[in-house]
Amino acid sequence: MVNNETMIKTARDNAVGIITLNRPEVLNALNIKMVAEIVFALERFDRDETVKVMVIQGAGRAFAAGADIDEMLDKGSIDLELHNQFTDWDRIAKIKKPIIGALHGFVLGGGFELALSCDILLAGQNTEFGFPEVGLGIMPGAGGTQRLTKLIGHQRAMKWLLTGARFSAAEAMNCGIVSSVFPDELLKEETKKMARAIAEKPALSVRLIKESVHKANELSLFEGMQQERKNFYLLFSSEDQKEGMRAFKERRKADFKGR
Ligand code: HXC
Repeated sequence: MVNNETMIKTARDNAVGIITLNRPEVLNALNIKMVAEIVFALERFDRDETVKVMVIQGAGRAFAAGADIDEMLDKGSIDLELHNQFTDWDRIAKIKKPIIGALHGFVLGGGFELALSCDILLAGQNTEFGFPEVGLGIMPGAGGTQRLTKLIGHQRAMKWLLTGARFSAAEAMNCGIVSSVFPDELLKEETKKMARAIAEKPALSVRLIKESVHKANELSLFEGMQQERKNFYLLFSSEDQKEGMRAFKERRKADFKGR
């Protein structure tokens, strides 16, 4: 299948696959085609053995200011049901390799939901977050009410979702929405550092850790621990487990092969 990317840019930094949302004139408002392009690019990087980590970032002055209001304005429920756009969004959760969201400017509505689909979020200090949907007479539809609530709990999720108010990177950090906040001008460099550090780790460990952490949201503690244990056992079939432990004993840097 040929994918003519027009609304995103993809690039490589060694083992890091970078996706840049690229509709800066509308603050990277996400339309259906753009989401399809993002998912296609993520899946392509996920299948590429030379890619270890992915980054999603935004061009211009925002990560993404939400779903494209122009595209939604005249839609009816039946259009939405028939188009079934959320199957594309659901595919993001099936990506095996870690996705880092590098957030700056505005992270609103569907843009916030895209961010919450990533595994690690880093933000520039002037980033503004919010779910403004309530003010448009709609609500989040790509996981916002679910993921935000699981992440920060009922009280704060209700506050942000029902008021639609924007909040700061410091507040997002305080709630545990992002893992780190950096001066805006350092965000790209810090994202690269984080991506490269993860890319150097044994890929199977990274993959199974991601899978296990996601299970914590879906399973009971007991079931999650069973799943964790199976992944733990599985890693003892990998060459990298032998290499990692031998390298430790021999006081040398491990040479991981990703299998
Ligand atoms: C379409 C958008 C847009 C959006 C911004 N633009 N956000 N177009 N959809 N979500 C366009 C503006 O119309 C404008 O185009 C240009 O981008 C620059 O935006 P301005 O408003 O002029 O910039 P500024 O004054 O700095 O205000 C920035 C802003 C504001 C606060 C982020 O743009 C804003 O409130 N945007 C909408 C945010 C929002 O409501 N998002 C939720 C969408 S619903 P022109 O042509 O005038 O220059 C949603 C549902 C998800 O996400 C459902 C699941 C997928």
